[in-house]
Amino acid sequence: MVLLDIKNLTLEIDISSEWVKALDKINMVIHEGQIHALVGESGSGKSLIVKAIVGALPKRWRITADRMTWKGQNLLTMSAKARRKLIRKDISVIFQNPIESLDPSLTLGKQLKEMLPRDQLTKTWFWQRNDEKQALAIKLLHKVGIKNHQLCLASYPHQIANDVVQKFMIAMALASEPKLIIADDPTRGMEVTSKTQILKLLSRVNQVRGMSVLFVSHDLLAISSMASYMTVLYCGQTVESGDLKQLRKRAFHPYTQALLDSAPSFRKDLPPKSPLSSLDGTIPTLHHLPIGCRLGPRCPRARRECVETPQIRRVHTHFYSCHFPLHWDAK
Ligand SMILES: Nc1ncnc2c1ncn2[C@@H]1O[C@H](COP(=O)(O)OP(=O)(O)OP(=O)(O)O)[C@@H](O)[C@H]1O
Ligand code: SF4
Ligand SMILES: [Mg+2]
Repeated sequence: MVLLDIKNLTLEIDISSEWVKALDKINMVIHEGQIHALVGESGSGKSLIVKAIVGALPKRWRITADRMTWKGQNLLTMSAKARRKLIRKDISVIFQNPIESLDPSLTLGKQLKEMLPRDQLTKTWFWQRNDEKQALAIKLLHKVGIKNHQLCLASYPHQIANDVVQKFMIAMALASEPKLIIADDPTRGMEVTSKTQILKLLSRVNQVRGMSVLFVSHDLLAISSMASYMTVLYCGQTVESGDLKQLRKRAFHPYTQALLDSAPSFRKDLPPKSPLSSLDGTIPTLHHLPIGCRLGPRCPRARRECVETPQIRRVHTHFYSCHFPLHWDAK
């Protein structure tokens, strides 16, 4: 079953009194029970997509799409109230800087208990309900591997370590038993042990509870350990998407290939100490967007035709947007 279906999502933002397309015809489909990775260099628009999905973008920005539905319901035409209600029930987001999405003036205990949906509470009287909420909060903390629940629940956000904040955010995300968890770069800057714990945790909620996960990252090794499907983003455009194994075996887009080549363990045939092939240059700023295919100035395969934006093409469940894809030269 398709949960989230996005077709041609475009976001125009005003910078220095000019409107620019920070997202340009983004496509993404998330299925029930899927771990879907969204990958791309820093500045490619991953967090903007997350915010667009949950309606957390400034109102003055222009957002359009041919389709943006959650279980068939149109997210763009429903009222803000209905959208908030639906998202609160079905989608949980762990934003990129989690501490900023917590209220600094409230203890973590209070914030976690507020997230518990009413239908999980069975007791009638408020004092019984308080005990019930406390028990549920402790259970959630244990589930995400926070053993010292007393200290955690009594602390304010700034009083706990980063990796504990991240686990706490996962507990908050699980509280409402959502259908989809969106984790925006949940392991950035973490040391290996904490990173492994977070990845295992997300995989477990997917396997045990069947929750779908949109895993946003530029860490290809982390992605390969858990995701089954991958959407690749470059400079606000979706360049390729498909089954992760397929993409690793046979990427069609030069950018996807460059990304894969930049992670050594993705290439079995890489001899020791061989130089990593990657693209020259850096991702352009929104003020200097190339016309047509935005990879053009960095792409070794670029030709004159690339000043036209390539159409999306499909091979089974594999989609790509490139005029001169890899592996198609002989055809
Ligand atoms: N509030 C804003 N005002 C102006 N430009 C913005 C704003 N938020 C994001 N951008 C720009 O939009 C582009 C995409 O930003 P975004 O944060 O979505 O990138 P990202 O892929 O999440 O990067 P990272 O991996 O570093 O988190 C960047 O060029 C960024 O500078
Ligand atoms: S369309 Fe052209 S510039 Fe863009 S990735 Fe393909 S070959 Fe390179
Ligand atoms: Mg981001």
